[in-house]
Amino acid sequence: MTAKLVLNSGDLLKLSPVATPQKIRVNRRNLLDELAYLKTVEPVNLLRDCILELRQKLFNPNGGLLIPAGNFELSEEMSLDYLLEELEQIAGAFTLDRARYYLNRLEKGLTKVRTGLINDINLNRWKEYRDINTDSLWILDRRDNSGVHTAQYWGNFVPQIPSQLMKRYTKKGDWVLDTFSGLGTTMIESQRLGRNGLGIELQAATAARSTALLEAEPNLHNVTNRVVVGDSAHLDYRRTLEDAGAKSAQLLIMHPPYYDIIKFSDDDADLSNAPSLESFLEMMGRVIDGAGEVLDRGRYLALVIGDKFSKGEWIPLGFMTMNEVQKRGFQLKSIIVKNFEHTAGKRNQQELWKYRALLGGFYIFKHEYIFLFKKN
Ligand SMILES: C[S@@+](CC[C@H](N)C(=O)[O-])C[C@H]1O[C@@H](n2cnc3c(N)ncnc32)[C@H](O)[C@@H]1O
Repeated sequence: MTAKLVLNSGDLLKLSPVATPQKIRVNRRNLLDELAYLKTVEPVNLLRDCILELRQKLFNPNGGLLIPAGNFELSEEMSLDYLLEELEQIAGAFTLDRARYYLNRLEKGLTKVRTGLINDINLNRWKEYRDINTDSLWILDRRDNSGVHTAQYWGNFVPQIPSQLMKRYTKKGDWVLDTFSGLGTTMIESQRLGRNGLGIELQAATAARSTALLEAEPNLHNVTNRVVVGDSAHLDYRRTLEDAGAKSAQLLIMHPPYYDIIKFSDDDADLSNAPSLESFLEMMGRVIDGAGEVLDRGRYLALVIGDKFSKGEWIPLGFMTMNEVQKRGFQLKSIIVKNFEHTAGKRNQQELWKYRALLGGFYIFKHEYIFLFKKN
């Protein structure tokens, strides 16, 4: 559902829901001419009428603002919602000065690109990025199952996590290093988003499965994404990156086993087989040291982890691991709390847990964390 401008009896413009395509291709030159003209219109009531006319042209293939499919010259791909919202704000201004301020802002969004050092987000059009979540609470009710993504690996994260992280913390062509790549969710998203990626996975069979998935996923941006079998606590990161064609990494993603909650293999090097909580943290420390070395300064490390419950006690595994990263000089930038998604099959189990919680005086885990750190 998206927004539509309508005129009510008081000549005011309002939002009402209507189904519209998300992106449109507009003729930038013509739109800029229209905006330049609008800046000369007065009084404010007449300006509102003109904006309504302009809005109608956005829905009319013969209105001169839309570019016919296939003819992409001089065109600009824009979110229709964004454009409608900007127009609504201009039309809602009570003074000409304010309306012209908004018109200038829209003009700037069409003519100037302002990006930072760590992503491709055009800050002059920041309102367009509705798909990017900037809140510290993530409630995701549905796993992205598109393309080759599959939930058939116990312990993989939802693709929305690496997707959000890469949009915020990488530019196209950057290198993402995932030290616990599992079934390759990060690599699949990285390939889709035009980033290069290197995944490290201890289990050869799991790595092979993820490579097969990656090969089945279209590589529209012609990037390199590969999974290497290895122990991320004892890896020559520099060489492994060089072998893949990179000098360093611009984003680290770490989604380790949550200590012994899920046993991934019988391998002693597997963090889920760490003999104690202390040794789990020690192994994590080695991964952070090794991978942290090849991360560029000013870039980010994302740690995805949950807590655990043992012998009647809540073990704050997330915060303990967070501490290992902080101890190594990384600057904590955010703690995101993300819900666990529900699966129908687990309903009976959930009821049993409710009984146990009532009896045992504790709360049931419904969340995990995404910790974000910057390497200074
Ligand atoms: C929580 S899962 C990661 C899932 C992944 N994010 C995905 O979406 O598929 C943790 C993974 O770490 C792997 N692992 C455990 N110890 C490891 C080690 N020392 N080096 C590399 N991988 C390891 C496990 O085999 C498992 O696949």
